[in-house]
Amino acid sequence: MKIHGRAYRTIWVAPDGWSVVVIDQTQLPFAFATRPLASIDDAAHAIKSMVVRGAPLIGATAAYGLCMALREDASDAALSRAYDLLVATRPTAINLKWALDQMVEALRPVPPAGRVPVAYARAARLCDDDVATNEAIGRHGLSIIRDIAQRKPGKTVNILTHCNAGWLACVDWGTALAPIYMAHDAGIPVHVWVDETRPRNQGGSLTAYELGAHGVKHTIIVDNAGGHYMQHGLVDMCIVGTDRTTATGDVANKIGTYLKALAAHDNGVPFYVALPSSTIDWTIEDGLRQIEIEERSAREVTHVLGQLSDGSTQTVALTAPGSPAANPAFDVTPARLVTGLVTERGVCPATRAGLRRLFAERAG
Ligand code: MRU
Repeated sequence: MKIHGRAYRTIWVAPDGWSVVVIDQTQLPFAFATRPLASIDDAAHAIKSMVVRGAPLIGATAAYGLCMALREDASDAALSRAYDLLVATRPTAINLKWALDQMVEALRPVPPAGRVPVAYARAARLCDDDVATNEAIGRHGLSIIRDIAQRKPGKTVNILTHCNAGWLACVDWGTALAPIYMAHDAGIPVHVWVDETRPRNQGGSLTAYELGAHGVKHTIIVDNAGGHYMQHGLVDMCIVGTDRTTATGDVANKIGTYLKALAAHDNGVPFYVALPSSTIDWTIEDGLRQIEIEERSAREVTHVLGQLSDGSTQTVALTAPGSPAANPAFDVTPARLVTGLVTERGVCPATRAGLRRLFAERAG
């Protein structure tokens, strides 16, 4: 996608041929800054501190983290150590483990002396595949938006999204936002209700930033407003991303997604989840009991980053001093509340049978 007229991905190899550059998402929307990552520790820190975030981008960053570790030591023991360090950086997004597994699968058969170029080539392919996958998700999601548009000719299609599942969460395109970009580019009038997505405000800061940069009409709303707009017929569909989806279609996504799905269900609003198949955890069936939910720092709830009138940024306290805060980063939306899963192979019901139809080779 383009920023200030220049095409960017969210992660790329620097001109030195081995270090990696990412967009520092902790500075958005106030500043567009890039940050070099020159070691596995840099990559792990970037994932943990959410310099990079979003399930697919976390996986891509971990893949390059592994590459940089191998430059120091390409032995089997070092490969295992690097895997263990990176896989523990964030617990909910399964793409992290998926990407590291892809890397290890490619690297184990290669003798240590030949591993570094193989690692970089595999990481690059992983990024290219992410872009192609998201483009396919966009095309399948576009037909849903087109159908809605055809049922209300000449009128705007209003779409609600939560958190950021756009290009900033991936290598390019995004998952939930890819269909929206394609609809906009195809001339379908779309407007996006952007949940601000407390506590870290990925909606208000990142989704709004990227939609604005692409010229897509949008309005930021507080997390509690979506149900109200649905009751008043102002939401035609919801579409969100996911950090892990079970083999039966339960969906873990940013905290608050479940409440939106409940409101959508109550109001007959279709609720779609867009995902690459790398987000499906084929080993589990019960999202509520089997998906580990990351608990993040209470400080993300009690404090917030903002911009002062002189353009500088500052973190300020928001809540009653001394009051404790809890911060589960994700929740699980049961499959029964999901209208459809938008994958790179098409749209399917959020059921074991639906997923099996599209991914027969994985579903067993
Ligand atoms: O905690 P984050 O910002 O990494 O959470 C991101 C989300 O919940 C996204 O919506 C999800 O990863 C889907 S990304 C395409």
